[in-house]
Amino acid sequence: MSSIIKISGLTFVYQGSKVPALDQINMDVKQGDFIGIIGPTGAGKTTLALCMNGVIPHFYPGDFYGSVWVDGKDTVENDCAVLAGSIGSVFQDPEAQMVAMVVEDELAFGLENLNLPRHEMERRITEALEITGISHLRYHSTSRLSGGQKQRVAIASAIALHPKILVLDEPTSELDPQGTEIVYDTLKNLNENHGITIIVIEQKIQYLAQYCSRLMVMDKGKIVIEGSCREVLARQDILKPLGINCPPVTQLAHMLKERGLYHGEYPLKVDEAYMVISKVLQDWGNFK
Ligand SMILES: Nc1ncnc2c1ncn2[C@@H]1O[C@H](COP(=O)(O)OP(=O)(O)OP(=O)(O)O)[C@@H](O)[C@H]1O
Ligand SMILES: [Mg+2]
Repeated sequence: MSSIIKISGLTFVYQGSKVPALDQINMDVKQGDFIGIIGPTGAGKTTLALCMNGVIPHFYPGDFYGSVWVDGKDTVENDCAVLAGSIGSVFQDPEAQMVAMVVEDELAFGLENLNLPRHEMERRITEALEITGISHLRYHSTSRLSGGQKQRVAIASAIALHPKILVLDEPTSELDPQGTEIVYDTLKNLNENHGITIIVIEQKIQYLAQYCSRLMVMDKGKIVIEGSCREVLARQDILKPLGINCPPVTQLAHMLKERGLYHGEYPLKVDEAYMVISKVLQDWGNFK
């Protein structure tokens, strides 16, 4: 499959800093991927997201080496407005992203720069609200929405621009578990049914394990490990020292493996853990 983002030898040093925030990053994102990025504070996750949408190098001074290609566009040669047609961004604080008083106007705001005919704007707003499951909020005041609803409005605003990629930097950090799940289900729908490539930075590993196709772990400006969720979560030796605890279902399998009771794949979800336990109990029964 073709690469939709290709990053080669990316190093970025913020102006005034001696240490690179990103250090020789290579990354290849395929169209349709759902990638999770995790890592300790200061690892460079946000800086990497800002390099993807072009905010770096266009708005942050610093030393930029290597190349970032997004949907066939070099981010150094193309400004953020051009890149916004390919990559949408959603950040941590939904409040800070809101500019309008009413949901519909919030979506229209981003579209105004595209100089679309009125009926096309209308169509895109209706479509984006439908896809994110918030059509009923169209005429609601943005100030009265819950955190989860605000984040869905932010996602709807981003996808109204018809990007091929969505990069989200800790989109659920301000949300309760219910709001978090709604946001992840929305992302799953965008990915599976609308072909949008998703890159999400997240601290809560259980959501990454549940929803992502690939995981990337960052530390000190580098990607220390990447692969399928199962491959990455199997590397407790790398994750633990970085303070990343695996989801409880994966930890359970790890403990069973350490005791020689289980030898199969790591479960990522509760129903998979149920299968693991059933298998262990069955083997144990046979052994007795
Ligand atoms: N505007 C800035 N100017 C100078 N240094 C910065 C700036 N923003 C971030 N840094 C530094 O760059 C490094 C990477 O920061 P970044 O915010 O990308 O990490 P992060 O992985 O997103 O961390 P967190 O989990 O806390 O959000 C850190 O050492 C940070 O102090
Ligand atoms: Mg960050």
